[in-house]
Amino acid sequence: MAKAKTQYVCQDCGHSSIRWAGQCGGCQAWNTLVEEAVPTAVKAPVMRSGRSVGGDGGSAGGSAPRMAGAYGSTRPQRLRDVTVSERHRLPTGLKEFDRVLGGGAMVGSLTLVAGDPGIGKSTLMTELGRGLDGHTLLYVTGEESAQQVKLRAQRMGIDPDGLFLFPETNVEAILAAAMDLQPDLMVVDSIQTVYRPDLTSAPGSVAQVRESTAALLDVTKTLPTTTFLIGHVTKQGSIAGPRVLEHMVDTVLHFEGDRHHAYRILRAVKNRFGAANELGVFEMREHGLKEIGNPSALFLSERQFGASGSAVVCALEGTRPLMVEVQALVANASYGTPQRTSTGFDTKRLQLLLAVLEKREGLRFSQNDVFLNVAGGVRLDEPAVDLAVALAVASSLKDVPLDSGTAVVGEVGLGGEIRAVSRIETRLTEIKQLGFERAMIPKANAKGLKVPAGLEILPVRRLSEALDLVC
Ligand code: TYD
Ligand code: MG
Repeated sequence: MAKAKTQYVCQDCGHSSIRWAGQCGGCQAWNTLVEEAVPTAVKAPVMRSGRSVGGDGGSAGGSAPRMAGAYGSTRPQRLRDVTVSERHRLPTGLKEFDRVLGGGAMVGSLTLVAGDPGIGKSTLMTELGRGLDGHTLLYVTGEESAQQVKLRAQRMGIDPDGLFLFPETNVEAILAAAMDLQPDLMVVDSIQTVYRPDLTSAPGSVAQVRESTAALLDVTKTLPTTTFLIGHVTKQGSIAGPRVLEHMVDTVLHFEGDRHHAYRILRAVKNRFGAANELGVFEMREHGLKEIGNPSALFLSERQFGASGSAVVCALEGTRPLMVEVQALVANASYGTPQRTSTGFDTKRLQLLLAVLEKREGLRFSQNDVFLNVAGGVRLDEPAVDLAVALAVASSLKDVPLDSGTAVVGEVGLGGEIRAVSRIETRLTEIKQLGFERAMIPKANAKGLKVPAGLEILPVRRLSEALDLVC
């Protein structure tokens, strides 16, 4: 095909030039020029040769108005004249996955599934084949051969009629195949391998990733289909960067976990059709990923009773309460600057809590290494976890175990005050359900609270009160 025109655009000031240069001619910044297709060429030619929009009965209906708005209608419309038809969702058959998406995959939506290499993204996408139920899935594989994908599917015991494999990386060919097959679901594994032949940059570069995604977004809305793009996250980030396309897609899912652990967590970090931060938990087994319906019970199952440095918190990730054990180990620092190491919790936040414990409660950590670990490989970002972290650390320092029948929630302020947390009743219900007898909560949350029968509440206003109560 004829070479489309490309240009180099500064990511800082928007200045464009025909040739690449190390320094932007507009703002003089270095290394900011990125290749882009000249705007008129952005819409892939395939789109025009395709069949009529919305021809396919049920699944097409949902996106038609959006199509008209995005590409068809040329005049502004009154709000009240905009017709909203029921966009519909396709259950994928994977309950946890559907929940994270907000209740099934939205027809005409583009989702990025990002995660470290080797974490299980291809496995997760192959699992989609299990619940196809008469639908079709086009699996574009740019990293592995069709045989490799087949072997994986075989090992997982997946072999539905509707699963089509397509080893291809040229986005034009992928679009053509999608228009031809009109699948209900499409997976592109991975976006870093896909390229537009009319751009000179290498696959995986910012320009290629962005322009390929734009073309795939187009076909997703046009057909419409439901597309999942796999994106690798690298430690360096920028080159392989799914970062650049986070704002282009409807939903961003992170697939996380410790590779040495069997648990995997799927987290919605952006979702136009559901709650952000929603969590799904899976276990990596020999024959694929198993969904974990009740992760709290699982995360607490390996708990050691009567050991110091352990606290149980009820965190809320998305809409789901999650009970997890926070473990701390405070040990004599053998030499040099004491270490603060944390897994599953922000290290800066840990340092802040240590400073509060030192300044307000007189505990001393200057001669100690502090290690913190959230059991099960979960990452907790919520401030409501603070109190559990502070208590676990204090418990380890004093070598006094906390009461194992007590779960803890609360945010710790810089003054050592315990601040209110959101959705306390949801948390208390989960705490009660998992067999805990007591819940330590912020005093500000205790007013007019409906407490589940049989659960004792320990309201605390300050860190010092919490410490007095438990260790
Ligand atoms: P994979 O899905 O290939 O990771 P990604 O696409 O994110 O790079 O999975 C990688 C690991 O998962 C690999 O080490 C093997 C393991 N695995 C299982 O443990 N069980 C299985 O059923 C499958 C398919 C893979
Ligand atoms: Mg893979």
